[in-house]
Amino acid sequence: MTTRLLFVCLGNICRSPSAENIMNHLIQQRGLSESIVCDSAGTSSYHIGSAPDSRMTAAARQRNITLVGQARQFTAQDFEQFDWILAMDRSNYRDILALDPGQQHQHKVRLICEFCRHHRDQEVPDPYYGGTDGFNYVIELLMDACSGFLDFVTQPSSLKSTS
Ligand code: 4NP
Repeated sequence: MTTRLLFVCLGNICRSPSAENIMNHLIQQRGLSESIVCDSAGTSSYHIGSAPDSRMTAAARQRNITLVGQARQFTAQDFEQFDWILAMDRSNYRDILALDPGQQHQHKVRLICEFCRHHRDQEVPDPYYGGTDGFNYVIELLMDACSGFLDFVTQPSSLKSTS
C-alpha cells in the first residue's frame, strides 16, 4: 500500500517544493520509494506552471537537494488523492480547510512544524520577500520537520491517516 503526501504553501515555488524534494531525498535514503510518494501544491494561482524559485533552489543545492517541479494550485480533489496534507503555515492550513466545508478530510491536514524535533517554530516562514538567510532557514527547518514526519508516518499505526 502506498502512502501519499502533499505539501502545501502559498505559491508552490518556495516552501512546499522544498519540502517535497527534501522528503523525497529522505525517502530514497531510507529505501522507502516504493511505499511513500510526495507532491506539492499552492493555495494560490499566482505561479501556476512555474519552476521552483531560483533563490530557493540555490539554498537547497547547498544541502545537496535538487529542487524539481512545476507549480500547481491545490484543489478539493487533492483531499481524495492524498493521505496526508501538510501545510507550511496557518494561513495555508485555513485555506486548505476552507475547501472542505463538510470537514470530512480535516483529520489528514496538519501543520508540518508539528513534527519538528529540533526547532520550536510553529510555521515555516514565508521567505519570498526576504534575503538569503530566510531561504537557508526554510531548508534547515524543513529537514527537521520532514525527518520527524517520516518517522511518524512510518510507525506501523500511522501509515494511513484514516486507519
Ligand atoms: P511559497 O512562497 O508560498 O513558499 O511558494 C511564496 C511565493 C510567492 C509569493 C509568496 C510566497 N507571492 O506573493 O507571489
